[in-house]
Amino acid sequence: MSTNGIPLTVNGKPVTRPNEDASLPLLDVLQEYLGLTGTKLGCGIGQCRACTVAVQDTPGGPWRNVQSCLTPLAAVSGKSVTTVEGLATGTALHPLQHAFLTEFAFQCGYCTPGFLMAASVLLDQLRRAPVARDKVDDAIMAAIGHNVCRCTGYFRYFSAVRKVVLAQPGLVKA
Ligand code: FES
Ligand code: FES
Repeated sequence: MSTNGIPLTVNGKPVTRPNEDASLPLLDVLQEYLGLTGTKLGCGIGQCRACTVAVQDTPGGPWRNVQSCLTPLAAVSGKSVTTVEGLATGTALHPLQHAFLTEFAFQCGYCTPGFLMAASVLLDQLRRAPVARDKVDDAIMAAIGHNVCRCTGYFRYFSAVRKVVLAQPGLVKA
C-alpha cells in the first residue's frame, strides 16, 4: 500500500483504489467498484469457491487461486488479478469456457466462474510443470475438487477440464 492508493492489475488493466478500501474483500471491490460481476458470492466463508479468482504475485510468476470473499484488497496490492471476465480473448472463448459449454458442464452457472478460474490456474501450473498421463486425474481433482456445485455438475466439469488438459500440447509428459 502507498499513500497514493492501492495499485493492482485487473484483467491486464492497471487499477488504483483508495487506501480506505484496503480491508474490503476483493470480491466486493471487483463487483461494486470495478463492475466485474462475474465473480460470485456463495458462502462468503471460504468454503464454496464460487468467488475464486487467479492472482499472480510477480510478473511472469505462477498464478494461484484466491478466494476473493476472504481476501482483503490490501493482500493483492501490486499484484495481478484475473477474473472470469479476463479469460476470453475478444469474442474468442477460452478453451475451458468452450469445453464447459460443449460438455454441458453447468446448469444454473452460478459456480462456473469459480470452476473456470480454478481450472485456468491448473493449466498454468501444468504449463510450468507437466504431469505424467496417469497423474492427470489427480491434478484435476486437486485443482477443482474443492469447488462446490449445487447443481452437482461435478463429473461434467471434471470431464471438460480433462479434455482441455489432454488436448493442449505440453501439459502432460510424453
Ligand atoms: S464465496 Fe464461498 S469461498 Fe468465497
Ligand atoms: S451449475 Fe448451478 S451451482 Fe453449479
